Amino acid sequence: MVQFSLPKNSKVVEGKYFKDKTNGKTLKKVKIYRWSPESNENPRLDTYEVNMDECGPMVLDVLIKIKNEIDSTVTFRRSCREGVCGSCAMNIDGTNTLACTKSAKDIVGEIKIYPLPHMQVVKDLVPDLNKLYKQYQSIEPWLQVEAKNDKVDKHEIYQSKKDREKLDGLYECILCACCSTSCPSYWWNGEKYLGPAVLLQAYRWIIDSRDEEREKRLKKVADELKLFRCHTIMNCTNSCPKGLNPAKAIGSIKKMLTQYSKNL
Ligand code: SF4
Ligand code: SF4
Ligand code: FES
Repeated sequence: MVQFSLPKNSKVVEGKYFKDKTNGKTLKKVKIYRWSPESNENPRLDTYEVNMDECGPMVLDVLIKIKNEIDSTVTFRRSCREGVCGSCAMNIDGTNTLACTKSAKDIVGEIKIYPLPHMQVVKDLVPDLNKLYKQYQSIEPWLQVEAKNDKVDKHEIYQSKKDREKLDGLYECILCACCSTSCPSYWWNGEKYLGPAVLLQAYRWIIDSRDEEREKRLKKVADELKLFRCHTIMNCTNSCPKGLNPAKAIGSIKKMLTQYSKNL
């Protein structure tokens, strides 16, 4: 258990720590889900007050301020602070999103922050993503080209502009898992169903003109549980913080499977 001391001018209200209110400051209440394997108070919501006049604009700035100045035990993941690493994905104000690109000002009233839903929690806002990463590994997310092929001899493998454009809307995925953890099918069948994040990635390699294993890749996902548990509910697409459309990618895989069905 990490120890922390109360900052100056703090007070305890209803068992929670608050900094003193100061007249004229813009204060925001923030509620954070807490769970720790070392705590016997699981789960609980802790409430903090943050002076937004001395805080950056994003929810991640609020979390960092709380951790630095109020409660160093609050645990969350972050790295890039600009929406490219995917590590700060969490449920903010009822929606799965990235804390570093979500403006605190856009949230009316208090900010409620939970971990991504329906995942095991490691601690506080940190979900266990091991299952998702294993599923990602299962689709072999790398370019597969026969080694003795002339194409891979000494040169880069060229792609026409048109073929390259087919990867738009796919390569931008940062594997944040906002989509998979908002998908009811993934909630209930996550052990078998690959979920929208992994299926979007699967399609990214299926559609890559340079890859030589399209049929093998299609065969791998052509499964009642791995793929066809998607019922086009669209939660995934609605929650993607990068504006991608995993539901469309899944639909494209299904369509390709119909076209290839005789050969598979
Ligand atoms: S598709 Fe969007 S929500 Fe899903 S993992 Fe990729 S970036 Fe995140
Ligand atoms: S469209 Fe498919 S993957 Fe997306 S939320 Fe619905 S069931 Fe899940
Ligand atoms: S910190 Fe990298 S996406 Fe938010």
